[in-house]
Amino acid sequence: MAEITMEKITSLAKRRGFVFQSSEIYGGQNGAWDYGPMGVELKNRIAGAWWKEMTQFHDDIVGLDAAILMHPRTWEASGHVENFTDPLVDCKKCKARFRADQIPPENLAAKKCPECGGELTDTRKFNLMFKTHIGPAEDTASIIYLRPETAQGIYVNYKNIIQSNRMKIPFGIAQIGKAFRNEIVTKNFIFRTCEFEQMEMQFFVKPGTDEEWFNEWRNRRWAYYERLGVKMDHLRWHQHGPDELAHYAKDAYDIEYLFPMGWRELEGVHNRTNYDLNRHTQFSGKDMQYIDQDNNNERYIPFIIETSAGLTRNLLMILCDAYDEEQVAEKGNDDDWRTVLRFHPSLAPVTVAVLPLMKKDGLAELAQDIRKGLKEDFATDYDQGGAIGRRYRRQDEAGTPFCVTVDYQSKEDNTVTLRFRDSMEQVRVPIAELAARLRQEIKAYKRIK
Ligand code: GAP
Repeated sequence: MAEITMEKITSLAKRRGFVFQSSEIYGGQNGAWDYGPMGVELKNRIAGAWWKEMTQFHDDIVGLDAAILMHPRTWEASGHVENFTDPLVDCKKCKARFRADQIPPENLAAKKCPECGGELTDTRKFNLMFKTHIGPAEDTASIIYLRPETAQGIYVNYKNIIQSNRMKIPFGIAQIGKAFRNEIVTKNFIFRTCEFEQMEMQFFVKPGTDEEWFNEWRNRRWAYYERLGVKMDHLRWHQHGPDELAHYAKDAYDIEYLFPMGWRELEGVHNRTNYDLNRHTQFSGKDMQYIDQDNNNERYIPFIIETSAGLTRNLLMILCDAYDEEQVAEKGNDDDWRTVLRFHPSLAPVTVAVLPLMKKDGLAELAQDIRKGLKEDFATDYDQGGAIGRRYRRQDEAGTPFCVTVDYQSKEDNTVTLRFRDSMEQVRVPIAELAARLRQEIKAYKRIK
């Protein structure tokens, strides 16, 4: 089995239009990436799968899309102004910058640069929030932050949602959106970036039931990745030790994925207690208590169980997880390899590609007609250029799970060849049954490798 490296993933991502460097013509912008035609489709589908899981499958979860710009007091209340910092050291000689917790402890203790051996500065705290100004004056009164997490937009709206949607505890609010962090180290492609997207769900529960719900949400999030067809031996749990816990958390577990550079955090499940709502009560002066009308109007500040996944980090995980290089045995040629992205069909940017065997003799027209018929229900592609084998390989590399080939027999008996990406098997299917067959295949999909 061929080794999966970040170089291979990055190169395929660029070659096939998944991810481009931001502002590439100016030399690129550190910490920012652009999602190309395939990338935006994949990102939308990952977001769609998560949204469906959270809102459609859970009657007790509703959605929200809060603004990125929030009142600056939000971030004082949340503790981010005070606590959302990374420890930073610089090398006085080579000017390299490091997170103090990511260099060998002996280097830190000896103040010795791990790259050039030069002298390191003292460790200082660096706040990760991006600051800007709102309005024409650039003074302290006009400071505003780009949100470093989407969660706070949910907390400040939780009472609005209870009132407008008659939600009763326990219930959740889900949100997908951009977040920004002035990360010191942004390597490994789109793994850690300054601009990224999160998929967060905050579940409001009665104090005392929080540990039970925490475990429940850990189980649900694990099962979610299993249903997506992710390699489960590439996932593991990591519980935060006391020195890793965020300032708001009582308990936290990360789901880690085995990326090409090693095990790294994919998603966090956090017991945030009533910390955030207590602080917003304190800072806004508004009563954030829940009134339990079914229980003698009992009042309390709910505890919050948070599931927080990076959307863009999920995209990287899905790319790595799907990537495969396979020797194509059927050809009997030892040098014949194909690169294939084994996306779950519900996530693949293109679900079905329609390929006429020849451009001539009316095959292209028939293929276009078939594509038109499939467009209503599926993301389609059409390719009439080059040898059919090469066209299959192009679709394999883009992760297209199904190819439909239109040949001379199609004109005679209204059937086409349906080719499966993973097994490369081909079956003959009547054109009239194609859409139903594809729907059935998507529903029954099981990853074979
Ligand atoms: N609201 C809680 C929170 O934001 P976090 O562990 O800091 O918790 C949650 O972030 C998730 O967001 C991470 O598991 C990761 O998937 C994603 N994430 C965080 N920082 C990121 C960054 N700089 N670039 C890409 N994704 C990031």
